[in-house]
Amino acid sequence: MSVSKKDILCLTLILILSFFCKDAHGLEKLNVDILYEALCPDSLRFVRNQLHPSWKELEPYINIHFVPFGKSQSINDGESFQCQHGPGECNRNKIMSCALQGIPDQSTQVEYVKCAMVSFFQENDPLGFAERCATEAGLQWSEIMTCYNSNIGTMLQLQAERETQAIKPKFVPTILYNKTFDQVLQNDSIRNFKQVACSLVSQTHPNACS
Ligand SMILES: *[C@@H]1O[C@H](CO)[C@@H](O)[C@H](O)[C@H]1NC(C)=O
Ligand SMILES: *[C@@H]1O[C@H](CO)[C@@H](O)[C@H](O)[C@H]1NC(C)=O
Repeated sequence: MSVSKKDILCLTLILILSFFCKDAHGLEKLNVDILYEALCPDSLRFVRNQLHPSWKELEPYINIHFVPFGKSQSINDGESFQCQHGPGECNRNKIMSCALQGIPDQSTQVEYVKCAMVSFFQENDPLGFAERCATEAGLQWSEIMTCYNSNIGTMLQLQAERETQAIKPKFVPTILYNKTFDQVLQNDSIRNFKQVACSLVSQTHPNACS
């Protein structure tokens, strides 16, 4: 099979077009990092009342990154962890690290985190976060447990610790835009995430949120 000039021209056009398509939607997405922890009521409130309801609208303009760690700390390089709300929180943070790693699509990640956080606080559904939330996200609980029980789960939590320690959050959840902490944006985000995110993305996408 020989490659003709026409083939090369087509290929070049495809590359140029895909570059522009990416430029319109991919390159200028706002990075939003959510530093949170499993058993923190403020984290639950943020995910359930702020992030999840505004997600559909913001999704095209945002790259979201969940960091489930908060005010935890590792002991002996991950031999164990200590968490603000006790050992049950450490387990749940690690479960979320493992699950998130297995969910490539960010909308599914948002659904999963919301499902899990709500379930952590529901006493009459203590294991909902396991089977139900995993299944809804297209995961198997056994996959999550394999990660959880291996050193992958530990490595993911140590990575979350490094990302969290780079900021040393005073408040959980802490919301970063462009990987940067800004106290004014933080305070406003806790009250009205959609407004903050919309005003930031509309700098590069004037039609967002209109
Ligand atoms: C994010 O970074 C881009 C590129 O450096 C910059 O143009 C934009 O203003 C930043 N946005 C925020 C919210 O910091
Ligand atoms: C942010 O909120 C905290 C707690 O409510 C408050 O102490 C602080 O002064 C606020 N900072 C800014 C810059 O608004």
